[in-house]
Amino acid sequence: MTEVNIVNLIKNFSGMTRPAVDNISINIRNGELIALLGPSGCGKTTILKMITGLLTPDNGDILLDKQSILSVPTEKRNVVMVFQNYLLFPYMNVNENVGFSLKMKGDDPKIINKRVQEMLELVKLPDIGERRPKQLSGGQQQRVALARALIANPRLLLLDEPLSNLDAHLRDEMRELITSIQKKLEVTCMFVTHDQEEAVLLADKIALIFDGKLQNFAEPKEFYEKPINVSAAKFFGGVNFIELNKNANYFHSSIGNITSNQTNINELNTKCIATIRPENIKISKENIYQDNFFKGKIKSVIFSGTHTRYKIVINNLNLECSLQSLGIQNIKKEDEVFVNLPKDKIWIMNE
Ligand SMILES: Nc1ncnc2c1ncn2[C@@H]1O[C@H](COP(=O)(O)OP(=O)(O)OP(=O)(O)O)[C@@H](O)[C@H]1O
Ligand SMILES: [Mg+2]
Repeated sequence: MTEVNIVNLIKNFSGMTRPAVDNISINIRNGELIALLGPSGCGKTTILKMITGLLTPDNGDILLDKQSILSVPTEKRNVVMVFQNYLLFPYMNVNENVGFSLKMKGDDPKIINKRVQEMLELVKLPDIGERRPKQLSGGQQQRVALARALIANPRLLLLDEPLSNLDAHLRDEMRELITSIQKKLEVTCMFVTHDQEEAVLLADKIALIFDGKLQNFAEPKEFYEKPINVSAAKFFGGVNFIELNKNANYFHSSIGNITSNQTNINELNTKCIATIRPENIKISKENIYQDNFFKGKIKSVIFSGTHTRYKIVINNLNLECSLQSLGIQNIKKEDEVFVNLPKDKIWIMNE
């Protein structure tokens, strides 16, 4: 198990107008599984490459268990990276691929064979040791790459988009395998993805990165409930945004005053934005609400099985609400409704 501290990491490439990695700091605890999440080109792979030693940072530091690794050569860092395209050696069979790093170290062949078998069992491929990579499916190649990475008991496992080449069914299977192996071996792990759903399903914590800058590093739940800004909220599927003017302890908006249970109000600018998840908005034909309710009109109703989605307009503000289909009232397009934004569910942030 290894604690990782990434400290004010900066990487510039010639030809880019901004740093590819722009002053990023992330602290990872022993045995945690962290997702680096962000759109294409935001700097995810560059961060992993600096940790392995394939790239040198322009500034900042990377510490494993409080020791800087920047002056340690790549092969001595004991950090392994699994690439998206697996990069198995085509002319070696699976056993040779998996045992490669131990052979390079000069370990006893008997010990290597035993460890190779252990690793292949761990990735649930005990019987394919004699095959060549081209005789394997994409999912199997990915698992062999994982076995090859784990055989030397790395201090840190880095996975770059490990699931993106797999079809949906295999992806679910691989996701479960990765988390179960990671927890079993208690190996600290960072994996890269641009898929927020995957990050939420896999990670203990998510580092959200836009344009080389860390937006937020927190548990998945926080990205839904307490996004740091509008871009972060949108990346996690946020659709409801209300412009506010802060006035002492209440917030004025185009639909009226809005109240919130939030405690960090002093930190908010005069102009700020409220967001609320569609599943947290309540609607009713009767006025049954105590506070934060507004009169609106239903613009559309979309039934999608377990849930029904409503587009609502209040004055000129469009909101979306999602209710469980079972047992809801008969609310139709053009109906006038009362819309409730529960004050414990509304989240207010700076733009
Ligand atoms: N060797 C390089 N030379 C110049 N520019 C580079 C180099 N490597 C990466 N970049 C640029 O740095 C930025 C970050 O690249 P990086 O590969 O880290 O992105 P990423 O987040 O991994 O994206 P993706 O999801 O597409 O893999 C991009 O704009 C990329 O074009
Ligand atoms: Mg990448």
